[in-house]
Amino acid sequence: VDVTVHPGQAKAISDLLLGIFFEDINYAADGGLYAELVQNRDFEYALDDKQGHDTSWHAKHSWKLEGANAQFTIETAQPIHPNNPNYAVLDFGAAGARLINSGFDGITLKKGQPYRFSVFTRALQGKPGKLQVKLVGKDGKELAAGTLPAPGNSWKDQTIIITPVADVADAQLELQPSGSGRIAIDMVSLFPQNTFKGRKNGLRADLAQVIADIHPKFVRFPGGCVAHGDGLGNIYRWKNAIGPLEARKPQRNLWGYHQTAGLGYFEYFQFCEDIGAAPVPVIAAGVPCQNSGVGGGGQQGGIPMDEMDAYIQDILDLVEYANGDVKTTWGKKRAEAGHPAPFNLKYIGIGNEDLISDVFEERFTMIFNAIKAKHPEISVIGTAGPASEGTDYEEGWGIATKLQVPLIDEHYYQPPGWFINNQDYYDRYDRTKSKVYLGEYAAHLPGRPVNLETALSEALYLTSLERNGDVVSMASYAPLLAKEGRTQWNPNLIYFNNTTVKPTVGYEVQKLYGIHAGDEYFPSTIKLSNNQDAVRKRVAVSVVRDSHTQDIIIKMVNLLPVPVVPTVNLQGITGISASRTVLKGNPDDKQLKPETISCSVTQAFDGGLPPYSFTIVRVKTK
Ligand code: AHR
Repeated sequence: VDVTVHPGQAKAISDLLLGIFFEDINYAADGGLYAELVQNRDFEYALDDKQGHDTSWHAKHSWKLEGANAQFTIETAQPIHPNNPNYAVLDFGAAGARLINSGFDGITLKKGQPYRFSVFTRALQGKPGKLQVKLVGKDGKELAAGTLPAPGNSWKDQTIIITPVADVADAQLELQPSGSGRIAIDMVSLFPQNTFKGRKNGLRADLAQVIADIHPKFVRFPGGCVAHGDGLGNIYRWKNAIGPLEARKPQRNLWGYHQTAGLGYFEYFQFCEDIGAAPVPVIAAGVPCQNSGVGGGGQQGGIPMDEMDAYIQDILDLVEYANGDVKTTWGKKRAEAGHPAPFNLKYIGIGNEDLISDVFEERFTMIFNAIKAKHPEISVIGTAGPASEGTDYEEGWGIATKLQVPLIDEHYYQPPGWFINNQDYYDRYDRTKSKVYLGEYAAHLPGRPVNLETALSEALYLTSLERNGDVVSMASYAPLLAKEGRTQWNPNLIYFNNTTVKPTVGYEVQKLYGIHAGDEYFPSTIKLSNNQDAVRKRVAVSVVRDSHTQDIIIKMVNLLPVPVVPTVNLQGITGISASRTVLKGNPDDKQLKPETISCSVTQAFDGGLPPYSFTIVRVKTK
């Protein structure tokens, strides 16, 4: 293949192109990225949380009582906060009974690392005495222990730091009062102290680091479908997900489990800042998923009109929470949470794959106009509508064009062949209309795992996104995370269990694009010795420059089963050194790592493009 680069025809492209999509699906948040180790810490699990009405899913889920002469009940009188109505009551005749939590598939502990245990307690009757806290292995071996002072007559939270003496993958937590009587217990929590960046109420360090390593330019949160919920009562309300943990409002996660909201809006903003990514919250457009019933005989529609002013005010308040001065109502709450400086919010998504009905359009228009009037500095991202087989988004684009919405969010999960055959998808887009945020995509064959073939078809397609980086401003693969044995959706970018993080080969492609991003696109002409359609579509090149480093980055994808030897004419660009990174293997390989070598510019293309490979040559020009 002959590649001729045309630096003279350079065009500016988005500097935000590659980001991440975070949704609490597949236990991505609770039991995943959120570092809390106690499952059902608030005793708020409810039968309705669980798909299929699994009767084991109730307020005592993950808890059990051991020992004689004792009772464990759930009560609701005088809770710590009305948003968190349930608490546990332990009624025991004498010391010996233990309340035990089994964690999320066990509690994983690291030897010598400090863990922060906290709990709210209240004495209800008798003298419950001091509370013994223990971490115990399956073999009954005590791994760490501490003692909390006897509870008083009103709710009080207490904290101790305990340090395990061994590495254990599946410990349990035991609470044992030392006296006799009745004690109320709530918000039982165990966190590693070494969360990502050491944040309190923070994130699991290894998982957060793997995400940070992508170098995402933005983070979309909290979904996906989680953002708009599957009914009016299930819409994600950001105000329920900030402030003291005991006052946050947990809710049913529409993927069939329970959402504590412990990983809430403050923590999302903090994570974005910690990894240098722009926050992109997505808020329901006043309608739940597919307007939850409209057209399907349902009755829910959207938020009633007489509640829309308050709903819109909530969205405006979010901007104040993120960016407002500490003297403003919501800016003050951010400061109270420990972050007086603004979070620099610039984008808000309104809607997620919604059915573009009258109900939607009416509400979207109201929200869009209100944000535009009060916060013209915020770019609204609209939705193109449900992901469809044919990726026909006419209706979503209709309203976006009418209102001149700055960006519009498209989603598509398609087989690898679709990505190979549609590399010209955005070449045809009208540059005068809304910019595109490709908010969810994956080369996706249901039931089939991510492999080199799917990853390379994404790499190929991403060259076309760079080429169209003047119209496609942002793109995020979806979904991001999945806990092994707890998935509702496959494939995903990163799998994990309690001890190990397992990035897929698709992750390596995302990471390479994240690391080797540019903000200027240099068109190139590609001539193949075999110009058959099927061959031509399996080789792609994209050349960008990073204006900060002045490096030229040449990405080359070869999805052919044979090597390709490139002759690259950089037309006057002189480099002083280069590096070559190659990701290669067999199409069915699931976990591969790229290899990088330093080389001279003249050697940079030696060795050609191996069969089934993604090659990046980065040329230093100064
Ligand atoms: O990414 C998984 C789901 O796919 C998202 O929640 C939804 O937006 C889409 O349908």
